[in-house]
Amino acid sequence: MLITRGSQMALFLAARAAADGGGAIAVEDPGYPLAWAAFRAAGARVVGVPVDEDGISIAALDGLARRDPGIRAVLVTPHHHYPTTVTLGAGRRLALLGLAAAHGWTVIEDDYDHDYRYEGRPVLPLAAAAAGGGTGSVIYVGSLSKLLAPGLRLGYAIATPGLTARMAAAREAIDRQGDVPLEAAVAELIADGELRRHARKARRIYLARRDLLVTALAHDLGDALACDVPAGGLALWLRVRADIDAGLWARRAQQRGLAVPHGGAFALDPARARNAFRLGFAALDPGEMARAIRLLCEAKPR
Ligand SMILES: Cc1ncc(COP(=O)(O)O)c(C=O)c1O
Repeated sequence: MLITRGSQMALFLAARAAADGGGAIAVEDPGYPLAWAAFRAAGARVVGVPVDEDGISIAALDGLARRDPGIRAVLVTPHHHYPTTVTLGAGRRLALLGLAAAHGWTVIEDDYDHDYRYEGRPVLPLAAAAAGGGTGSVIYVGSLSKLLAPGLRLGYAIATPGLTARMAAAREAIDRQGDVPLEAAVAELIADGELRRHARKARRIYLARRDLLVTALAHDLGDALACDVPAGGLALWLRVRADIDAGLWARRAQQRGLAVPHGGAFALDPARARNAFRLGFAALDPGEMARAIRLLCEAKPR
């Protein structure tokens, strides 16, 4: 395991290790623009793959593999796709690992919200299946940003010894050692069970907030917004009625002091931009949530 300064650094190092010498990395589109920025900064080309209600399209990835021999790695957010919140289906997980093994790709798994699953059985990371079945190599990227605080800048990458050594070598050039006192403090929180207790409490509170936001939005904006209630994670993906421009709505909300990222902000190919919002629920207490919904109602284009 390589401990990093946030998972952002881990994504950068994963690209350096997996797409050495200017290869390409396939990414979910829509997806996580900060990962694309890290990959490009690491010298990789970024290629988008469409996503549907079961996650990344394996058929499209397969087609891309035939067209683009430069692909070295694929980035996925299988637990809850960022930004649409869907979970990568079981069949697709196997197919993805199989495709990666067949082409010699590294799978970069960004498991940024691993601790937040509210319904059903926990979904294991792809890395667990890959380790068990010996299918291809996965760089598993985790973060404490959602569990503790983004300001801590603590993330990690777990990979084969070869990939880990390459990531460590790339990291040495910019950062000779981690934040040891911070890491020791967090290790203490883990060892004495405090982090586990915190996670349990956070899950309880965030589940209630998810349900509160879903109910309130259905009541106040049900004619304009629709969502599938996510089984976990920290945000809702809200589809905006076709005759309302989500981008315009987001700009009008911003003018009133409410930041709601809209579909265009997550699209690599503008043609894949969805008429939608990603609205976080975890950080809002009931009073703040009521205020956010009031601002959304006021900002709605007529
Ligand atoms: C998709 C995704 N990956 C990773 C992260 C965490 O980044 P970091 O660990 O650098 O704070 C986030 C946080 O917003 C995220 O949304």
